[in-house]
Amino acid sequence: MAAKALFRSVGIPISTFHLNLSVPVKSNLGLVSQSLAVCNHTNGRRKYSSKRLVTMIPGDGIGPEISVSVKQIFSAAGVPIEWEDVDVTPVKGPDGKFRLPPKIFESMNKTKVGLKGPLATPIGKGHQSLNLALRKAFTLFANVRPCKSIEGFETPYKNVDIVTIRENTEGEYSGIEHVIVEGVVQSIKLITETASRRVAEYAFKYARENKRSTVTAVHKANIMRMSDGLFLKCCREVAAKNKDIKFTEMYLDTVCLNLVQDPLSFDVLVMPNLYGDILSDLCAGLIGGLGVTPSGNIGEEGAIFESVHGTAPDIAGKNKANPTALLLSSVMMLRYMDLPTYADRIEKACFDVIKEGKHLTGDLKGKATCTEFTEEICLKVSSS
Ligand SMILES: NC(=O)c1ccc[n+]([C@@H]2O[C@H](COP(=O)([O-])OP(=O)(O)OC[C@H]3O[C@@H](n4cnc5c(N)ncnc54)[C@H](O)[C@@H]3O)[C@@H](O)[C@H]2O)c1
Repeated sequence: MAAKALFRSVGIPISTFHLNLSVPVKSNLGLVSQSLAVCNHTNGRRKYSSKRLVTMIPGDGIGPEISVSVKQIFSAAGVPIEWEDVDVTPVKGPDGKFRLPPKIFESMNKTKVGLKGPLATPIGKGHQSLNLALRKAFTLFANVRPCKSIEGFETPYKNVDIVTIRENTEGEYSGIEHVIVEGVVQSIKLITETASRRVAEYAFKYARENKRSTVTAVHKANIMRMSDGLFLKCCREVAAKNKDIKFTEMYLDTVCLNLVQDPLSFDVLVMPNLYGDILSDLCAGLIGGLGVTPSGNIGEEGAIFESVHGTAPDIAGKNKANPTALLLSSVMMLRYMDLPTYADRIEKACFDVIKEGKHLTGDLKGKATCTEFTEEICLKVSSS
């Protein structure tokens, strides 16, 4: 494979964010978010507002229901955001291959920030996972998942507070696979110094800015000496330059054992792609599952925040969905956009409704509809 194609396949630095239309703002994650003056045309007259434009990908299944819920709560809280809805249904290109529609690139180039509901991954329809495509297209190099126990929602452990930071562009998910001979398939795990260093630096930055004390690198460098060895070497080098944050390293299998025995002993975990995919779900399970776990995909020039659960086809269109995961992802997004006051108010209203336990959706052992749960949060947030 030519070097350029290989680099593109793992998202090395071929950025798709071309346009810079607005003023960069330093966010609390230390990255760039965008402030955009929105121009509305009313009766032929231009009206400017200082609202920021955010790309909304409602997604499939329950996606449209939970994104409406988030929009209603943002409206009740008076968040200065204007949404641009984008449908990412794949389009067929001239080569016959399906790909992301141009509209998503236009929108993200403009807004730099997106909120995404779940997307169905059709099996055997000739196109790759759209989630993977979005991460690669926008070089969203770090997936961040804070897993914090929710008061009032019973789980085996209380006070879990772990953040998983997963390298998002390469490793076992580089998509380089081929048949060597009939019955023998090879899949390449690609680890680069650039991507390893980038995610390690982000982990330390995240730890510092979010007042966390320890970053743990999770690896199997004892077995995969070269690939995980390089990842670990990069983490060690970055740790040496960030001595204010404690650094530890642990084997993946030891982390799994200790996570289920004593999750309170972990703080920030940084790891290659596949380990992160698995461990982030394990950590989500410790706090009540994917329905309540937020997530953010951070890039060098933008970010997409997303609920990590699927499209829940069994309850889609039945007003039974729990919007908490998407709402808490939008709270992460507000902090990234340097709007922490709105984030705090919405997060508190959501946690208060769950703690009271009177209006919970079915997955949280309640009987409320998505609409009733949303209305309760709106009531709290508009009076806070
Ligand atoms: N990030 C994503 O876009 C994403 C993630 C996982 C799966 N998927 C896709 O979603 C589809 C269905 O996947 P699946 O059935 O394996 O997983 P799923 O997460 O959609 O559903 C698993 C179970 O959890 C429940 N559930 C999930 N989210 C919920 C919510 N917010 N409120 C209440 N209940 C909720 C569902 O009702 C179901 O019983 C597939 O096409 C899959 O590819 C997308």
